[in-house]
Amino acid sequence: MMSPEQPQGVPHAPAQGAAAPEPVVTARGLRQVYKVSRGFLRPPAQLQAVGGVSFEVLPGRTLAVVGESGCGKSTLARMVSLIEPPTEGMLQLTGVDVVAAAPAQRQTLRRSVQLVFQNPYGSLNPRKKIGAILEAPLEINTSLDAAQRAERARDMLARVGLRPEHYDRYPHMFSGGQRQRIAIARALMLNPALLVADEPVSALDVSIQAQVLNLLADLQQELGLAYLFISHDLGVVRHIAHDVLVMYLGHTVEQGPKQAIFSRPLHPYTQALLASTPGIVGQGAGLPRTPLKGELPSPLNPPGGCVFSTRCPHAVERCRAERPLPRTIEARLVACHLADTLTPPAAWQHQPQEESTR
Ligand SMILES: Nc1ncnc2c1ncn2[C@@H]1O[C@H](COP(=O)(O)OP(=O)(O)OP(=O)(O)O)[C@@H](O)[C@H]1O
Ligand SMILES: [Mg+2]
Repeated sequence: MMSPEQPQGVPHAPAQGAAAPEPVVTARGLRQVYKVSRGFLRPPAQLQAVGGVSFEVLPGRTLAVVGESGCGKSTLARMVSLIEPPTEGMLQLTGVDVVAAAPAQRQTLRRSVQLVFQNPYGSLNPRKKIGAILEAPLEINTSLDAAQRAERARDMLARVGLRPEHYDRYPHMFSGGQRQRIAIARALMLNPALLVADEPVSALDVSIQAQVLNLLADLQQELGLAYLFISHDLGVVRHIAHDVLVMYLGHTVEQGPKQAIFSRPLHPYTQALLASTPGIVGQGAGLPRTPLKGELPSPLNPPGGCVFSTRCPHAVERCRAERPLPRTIEARLVACHLADTLTPPAAWQHQPQEESTR
């Protein structure tokens, strides 16, 4: 069943010179509700981690999902990578409905989406050499012989910027950035169509972050990969994204092309996020850094009406009473009753200098 709050058409940045390829992933009204124990003899509480999120990602494109800790980013990643079925909603991978797929077909779909995590060390077996780690997915899923598997692994090492001698080394012999390259290599061994990256560079030094982001961008161009890129860091998102989805407490508050959202954010939450990120927009253009006031409400007891109303500087009575539906304003979706009546601060009229490779 589809959530009524999500419209069909999500504006996204046009792909260059493309004749409308089919999306690699299509999500409509994805929802995840967890049952949380409240102790002996009390019925479990319901925690809505994701409350009806819709998006598409085309081949060769990156959708970045941003928002504060606990807003539901990783839950969304787990649903899209078929680790957890959604409580509700429609999910298609390469045009195939995941929920309706037969078990054998789901196995194939599972291979078409791969995950990269923040901490690759946790997911790399410390007792296995890199060669064996890269070849394991081929051993399970293909009929390639040992020599062919080794050749593929060595090719992939080169592709992610590692050296041939790394084939015989163990994970602990690598730096954090190199380990993330290994995790990316392993994710690509089965030629997925979609890479879901959950905070893939958040644990790395800034200079190493840039190298891994450049690698991801190069691999995307070379292989036509689609990325669902999850990050709390708008500075990182600015470098890698084509489209952006801003989440707050499980809900989409603003969604559309990166250029539109970064140059003129319309939702008060997006404005606050951007204004509190150093070096993005506003600084030097007179916009004060305005950190968000107040606590993030508990998802066990979310506010009625607009989920952001308890922290929004502009909230009026209607915001507390009625949940705003996402609607199209200035080439993006915004879920805010006031988005078209508020004048964004003058600083947002200032076009950010485009350093991005995108
Ligand atoms: N398995 C689970 N059971 C119960 N609640 C869960 C479960 N997984 C996540 N949650 C809750 O769902 C909400 C969203 O969590 P999620 O991990 O998706 O957030 P996130 O945006 O990835 O946060 P972070 O930036 O800290 O990684 C949180 O309130 C979290 O406590
Ligand atoms: Mg997370």
